[in-house]
Amino acid sequence: MFGCKQFADVAPPGVPGRFYVATHGMSQIAGRHIVVTGGASGIGRLVALKLAGLGGKVTVWDINPEGLDRVVTEINALGKETARGHLCDVSQRAQVYRIATETAAALGPVDILINNAGIVSGRRFLELADEKIEASFAINTLALFWTTKAFLPAMIERNLGHVVTIASAAGLIGVAKLTDYSASKWAAVGFDESLRAELRQVAPGVRTSVICPFYIDTGMFRGVKTRFPALLPILQEDYVATRIVDAIEHDRQRVIMPWLVYVVAPMRALPVRFFDWVARFLGVNATMDDFIGRR
Ligand SMILES: NC(=O)c1ccc[n+]([C@@H]2O[C@H](COP(=O)([O-])OP(=O)(O)OC[C@H]3O[C@@H](n4cnc5c(N)ncnc54)[C@H](OP(=O)(O)O)[C@@H]3O)[C@@H](O)[C@H]2O)c1
Repeated sequence: MFGCKQFADVAPPGVPGRFYVATHGMSQIAGRHIVVTGGASGIGRLVALKLAGLGGKVTVWDINPEGLDRVVTEINALGKETARGHLCDVSQRAQVYRIATETAAALGPVDILINNAGIVSGRRFLELADEKIEASFAINTLALFWTTKAFLPAMIERNLGHVVTIASAAGLIGVAKLTDYSASKWAAVGFDESLRAELRQVAPGVRTSVICPFYIDTGMFRGVKTRFPALLPILQEDYVATRIVDAIEHDRQRVIMPWLVYVVAPMRALPVRFFDWVARFLGVNATMDDFIGRR
């Protein structure tokens, strides 16, 4: 979207993957103010580091103070002294609005919002405590509304910006032991699609991306298994983070990974019995059998 760029590879010590710092020209990321929620660990941390490496001014929000300090230090070790961290529980609407004001006051209007914070319960429906169900929706779904409401007006005003929703493959297909998670991520996919349609009408320069990965090796889903690793691999967090950055740079509106998950949509034209049989054959509903998660 913003012209040519040239990068030097400068992977920081201890962080896997490809890192780039713009050496001349301008990239879509360089100079942009980027907020990553849940950026103290996992995918959010890696995305924050990669975007900072591309010259972005990154603000990380999280509920984990040690993780926040760590990621801000890591980003500043890349030679960027602009990174900020804010303790913010994205499920708390008033807190989101307050910290959003502080965030914009510190580094200017936010150009790119990455709604990444998320949680999983990983229990059968009747074993789910009511509070867990509420928390899943508060963090995985409702928080999207609060953060986006906080930053979108300034994007619309400038007709420039990008809202990234980290959803899940479980937002495209229901999975046993993921009723609350799956439902909250379906809502996230619907949120992105409706927002995209609205923005096309009111501010076409403001883009959205929805990211729907299968399981990733961050620890959030520790213990999950896949019957056909060649077709449905547990994804590596660096790969997913790279695809998210690529989606921002190249205005990709929907990223689904791995490729096999793309067949879910056309499969819905089939009778439900056949759809369910294929899901069972692929082992989708057994993936969570040995789930441990972060417990
Ligand atoms: N991992 C997967 O297999 C997978 C697959 C598909 C999609 N996703 C989605 O990808 C996103 C990132 O997942 P991940 O695997 O990187 O997870 P992660 O490693 O658990 O990182 C999530 C981060 O969000 C923080 N967080 C939790 N609740 C929060 C809240 N209320 N407010 C602010 N921050 C909060 C966590 O802090 P604490 O550590 O203190 O809890 C953690 O730092 C999530 O939306 C997840 O649903 C993950």
